[in-house]
Amino acid sequence: MQARAEELRLSGKRIAFVPTMGYLHEGHLSLIDAAGRESDIVIVSIFVNPTQFGPQEDFENYPRDLERDIELAKKRGAHIVFHPSAEAMYGECPLTNVEVSRITDVLCGASRQGHFRGVATVVTKLFNIVKPHLAVFGQKDAQQAAVILKMVEDLNMDIEIRIAPIVRESDGLAMSSRNVRLKAEDRKNALILSRTLFSIREGLYNGEPLGKLLEQGRAKIQKIPGARLDYLEARTFPGMELLQNADPDKNCLIALAARFGKVRLIDNVLIPKKGEQRV
Ligand code: PAJ
Repeated sequence: MQARAEELRLSGKRIAFVPTMGYLHEGHLSLIDAAGRESDIVIVSIFVNPTQFGPQEDFENYPRDLERDIELAKKRGAHIVFHPSAEAMYGECPLTNVEVSRITDVLCGASRQGHFRGVATVVTKLFNIVKPHLAVFGQKDAQQAAVILKMVEDLNMDIEIRIAPIVRESDGLAMSSRNVRLKAEDRKNALILSRTLFSIREGLYNGEPLGKLLEQGRAKIQKIPGARLDYLEARTFPGMELLQNADPDKNCLIALAARFGKVRLIDNVLIPKKGEQRV
């Protein structure tokens, strides 16, 4: 892959990269679209990265279907699908990690120890292998996007980062590879997540106080049978500072994580600061 990427670069091609863990859905495919709009060559990686899963997490049960993924990615315009083995990625007893501090202590970082270290390290490795000019990430994993932006800035990585909007099912549930693991009842109940986020956003636009909206949101989710709320918080994006009150001069990220059975779901809405377009 590295040799091929070098060849492409030398022949003047602009490479856009979409890193994924596979089991592709419309959210991933929208990133391929975005990558295609700004490049000559789109490279998609499919690698279920063991180092970003905790010991009690779902690495073994993470859904996988490589053949289908390759077909979907190619059909959508990916020129190269890179799917290394874990041995190829980590074979020689690695001793080096990339760690972004502080912004990884909160939200998902607080309940998933070491998760963002695994993400930052594997994304750095993939960047070094794929040599992209541009890489596209989803706002679905907003904290991950913030970590990548900071890492690229801090380590002077010569790569442009794009953040693409969240793609949702028609009923509002944010698309996720993990959705297929939801039991039918939980799938229905999980709608509370996007509904709560949308109603908080609506409340903020109507001038209601942030603290009260978050409290009501937490109560609503906790009342749903089978739902276990991990967090529902408002933070600046990408700085990840806790927001007590809405501040029109800061991007406001309302983010949540909740478990339904064994499945952990995340979702968010981003309310851009004054002067930037609402999404
Ligand atoms: P994965 O969960 O497969 O997601 C790959 C990319 O797709 C991420 O940038 C994610 O934010 C984006 N994505 C997922 N669901 C989306 C949706 N509904 N709408 C828009 N974008 C969506 O994130 C990872 O993999 C890994 O941590 C990775 C970066 C590949 C490192 O291992």
